[in-house]
Amino acid sequence: MPLSVLRILLYVQLLLGLVKYGGERIGLPPLGHVFDFHELIGVIVAILAIYALRPLPGVQDTGVRMAARFFPLLPLVLGIGFVAIPNLVSTPHIVLLHMVLGIATIALVEIASAQQRRSQRRRPSFAG
Ligand code: HEM
Repeated sequence: MPLSVLRILLYVQLLLGLVKYGGERIGLPPLGHVFDFHELIGVIVAILAIYALRPLPGVQDTGVRMAARFFPLLPLVLGIGFVAIPNLVSTPHIVLLHMVLGIATIALVEIASAQQRRSQRRRPSFAG
């Protein structure tokens, strides 16, 4: 359940980020305060990933799982930089890096989530 919530929130992040980045460039109205959710969800996602991808009995603690657990902290640190020191951090290259790290987070969480589902399916059933 926490892993499903994490995945949904990450896709909301992607959508908000793409609309913010692309929408303004093609002349859509600015997101305004709606984009505040991107910041809020960013913090929630970073905490939730650490919880949802913790070591679990019967689920192999692979390298991908460990990376996915802490990876959201990377786009979060840059995102906090955009808010705290925009003049220094909000450059086109760092915004692009932030987007790539965000998309890489989604990929890692998806792989870790598929691994977890496979491990849980393989677990021996006690029902006989
Ligand atoms: C784990 C994933 C992510 C986290 C934790 C995260 C976090 C943040 C935070 C905290 C901000 C600052 C919010 C603000 O300026 O009010 C931000 C800004 C932004 N994010 Fe993300 N984000 C993530 C993923 C993404 C993705 C996938 C995209 C797009 C593909 C994206 C695009 C953007 C853009 C365009 C900005 C505005 C940058 C600027 O112009 O200052 N983010 N993000």
